[in-house]
Amino acid sequence: MLINGFDVLDIIKEVNTPVFLYDVEKIREKIDLYKTNFKSNSFQTEVLYASKALALPSLLKILKEKDMSIDVVSLGELELAFKANFLSKNIYFHGNNKSTNELELAINKGINIVLDNLDELKNIQRINKTLNKKINLYIRINFGIEAHTHKYILTGNFDSKFGIIYDSFEYNEVLKLINEDKNILLKGFHSHIGSQIFELDPFYELIDRFFEIEKKLKGNYEYSLGGGFGVKYTKEDKPLETKFIAENLINYAEGKIKENNIKISKLLIEPGRSIVSDAGLTIYSLGYKKKTKNKIYYFVDGGMSDNIRPALYQAKYEADIIGRENEIKNNLVSIGGKCCESGDILIDDIMLPDYEYGDLLVIYNTGAYSFSMSSNYNMALKPNVIFIEKDKYYYAYNNKEGE
Ligand code: LLP
Repeated sequence: MLINGFDVLDIIKEVNTPVFLYDVEKIREKIDLYKTNFKSNSFQTEVLYASKALALPSLLKILKEKDMSIDVVSLGELELAFKANFLSKNIYFHGNNKSTNELELAINKGINIVLDNLDELKNIQRINKTLNKKINLYIRINFGIEAHTHKYILTGNFDSKFGIIYDSFEYNEVLKLINEDKNILLKGFHSHIGSQIFELDPFYELIDRFFEIEKKLKGNYEYSLGGGFGVKYTKEDKPLETKFIAENLINYAEGKIKENNIKISKLLIEPGRSIVSDAGLTIYSLGYKKKTKNKIYYFVDGGMSDNIRPALYQAKYEADIIGRENEIKNNLVSIGGKCCESGDILIDDIMLPDYEYGDLLVIYNTGAYSFSMSSNYNMALKPNVIFIEKDKYYYAYNNKEGE
């Protein structure tokens, strides 16, 4: 199995499993697709990377080289963005419970703040009494738009912990307080309707709702559609092409702007998963096999500590045994991890051939929200991460050194 001309077997001789391998050229291509196609003649556009999907210094360096903006949700992500030399104007700080420390830093550095709730606004105003800075603020709105996805990653419903319900008491209070505060510049509005979404209709609905705001307030505001564009984990997933997504969102917004006779200054998107997901895969060493009453287990040397998604969201993946891709897949098996937990199953029911102890299993499409959600459960080390370019490969995370 080759990635950018490098044989995975050669890499594995140098690096312990489990390990995440990333084809960095795929990430670059994805960024280019978003950036070249998400453009308009009627308003500015900006593509942010949602760094929660994978936040590593080597990745942020690539994003910066590509002139991307970035969405951060914690001090840790914010510091990584600083280290990678992102400009404050290109950093957007999200989160429903940003701490006073985090807000002070963001205000001092002039980071864009995406406001989540009324209490947060009051805290920002309290902090800024002494700092007395100009603050660029976006309001995260919840319109109750339903997108079809797993309920744990659905964020747009009215009981979501994120955002302010449109036209609620809180919404109007926030607008009033911002209006009265000379130090706060309301730059625009944001909404994130969910993740792993395969259709554009909910985004069109979001644009419609946003433009109701513009019609009402006439502020020539910026509008961020969030992220959430789906990726292909298994054959059943049918994601839309990135170019198609970008072009159609722009076309729809342009059409609606004309129809409503309004102006907006910028449209933003913040994809995370779709930028890194299919560039990454995990390699495990296969250990013992076990037959139970109704199942056959193939055990690997990692598990929920490097990929919690199957246990948390019933996420599905596809896999192969390296070197045996073309053998007849005649065993219905479950891939069990080595963590001390019955739910530590990476793939339940997959057809695979037999193997020899020590063979390598590859699970595809683990580039997003696997490493970033990995843990040290059972004191496991977080897996190494290797970035593979056209002419070299290197550690993007080295579990011996912690970076
Ligand atoms: N913007 C905001 C405000 C978000 O909350 C998120 C994701 C994104 C952008 C990026 O969404 P994406 O393009 O990656 O779908 N851990 C879950 C996904 C949680 C997503 C949280 N927010 C998973 O593994 O499926």
